[in-house]
Amino acid sequence: MRKIYLDHNATTPLHPEVLEAMLPVLGEFYGNPSSVHSEGRKARVFLDEAREKVADLIGANSGEIIFTSGGTESNNMAILGVALSREKKDARIITSTVEHPSVLNPCKQLEQFGITIDRLPVNPKGRIDLDQLKDAISDSTVLISLQQANSEVGTLQDIEKIGELAREHSVCFHTDAVQSVGKIAVDVKKIPVDFLSMSSHKLNGPKGAGALYMKRGLPVLFPTMSGGNQEKKRRGGTENVAGIVGFGKACELAKTRLQSGGMISLANLRDYFFEQIESLVSGVELLGDKEYRLPNTLNLSIEGADGETLLIGLDVEGISVSTGSACSSGSSLPSHVLTAMQVPARRINASLRFSLGVDNTRDEIDHVVKTLARLVSLNRKNSFALG
Ligand SMILES: Cc1ncc(COP(=O)(O)O)c(C=O)c1O
Repeated sequence: MRKIYLDHNATTPLHPEVLEAMLPVLGEFYGNPSSVHSEGRKARVFLDEAREKVADLIGANSGEIIFTSGGTESNNMAILGVALSREKKDARIITSTVEHPSVLNPCKQLEQFGITIDRLPVNPKGRIDLDQLKDAISDSTVLISLQQANSEVGTLQDIEKIGELAREHSVCFHTDAVQSVGKIAVDVKKIPVDFLSMSSHKLNGPKGAGALYMKRGLPVLFPTMSGGNQEKKRRGGTENVAGIVGFGKACELAKTRLQSGGMISLANLRDYFFEQIESLVSGVELLGDKEYRLPNTLNLSIEGADGETLLIGLDVEGISVSTGSACSSGSSLPSHVLTAMQVPARRINASLRFSLGVDNTRDEIDHVVKTLARLVSLNRKNSFALG
């Protein structure tokens, strides 16, 4: 059966060149980078080279990159690290209602330790209001943690302006850039940001590797993973050298892709998809912001259809997508993101997320659109028959 993968915001396939770069480290070069002998020194070289490549993708200095196990750990490291290093007793953190659980849950944990969390609402397109952010900043605010791109709808926040506001008020700014790095140009020299989270498996690298960018000159963070002296004592534990090497290669490839206009073609393919589906299926609504968004994400709510049923129908046809409604995300609750955007429950139940990758083709999109149109018409007929 023909397989078409349109769930790149969940994870991406490993790029063949990434696998090739990782293989020697999984075999011949197995040293521990902390060892002083030749095997150890060789592993250290691999690590240093990868650090340069990761830093280069976001315009950072290699000394500003802390390797982690992925986006979840990077977000926890920044949020818990800043909170636990705080000097203020009555500390507050500002975040939003549409963050990834790896931001929302550490914030929730901190509430148990007396830290106040200010959660900003979003408009129906998924953006926060900068005036509301300004009003929320107080003398007690120790951190603003707001994502750059949302994984479910692809909406982008204005992180330049958010960073400027944070700077004006001398508050640390962390952004979860897990969904944006590799898909749009991200340059920490142009964004006033202190911490930025990245994840390897969202940009054709392996799972289990990621990084936290931490701006040079910031005070030492309370280490949430304490152990040996790795990562200058900022994150203990023997490094996942093969994963990190793959991450480095993936960053190098992403930079080339961004520079050669790969993401413009991806945005064109996304727009083609939307035009085609709109022309074949009635009642299609785009959820998210049409102007400020990722080039690869389309979250569509299809009037009168059931997202879960469509997802299963598409899966049977070899097409992988996801839904904001229920079980697919391992939760029985409707998407917190779509709920925060005030999307009505029936629209949430009818939503599907298509997240495209650079290897998807027009021919694949034509096939998906035709299959989806057929399944929607069947789904609508069945729900009509069931009353
Ligand atoms: C916006 C965002 N942040 C963080 C994460 C977590 O990243 P990881 O899977 O590398 O832990 C994800 C994963 O889906 C994400 O989409």
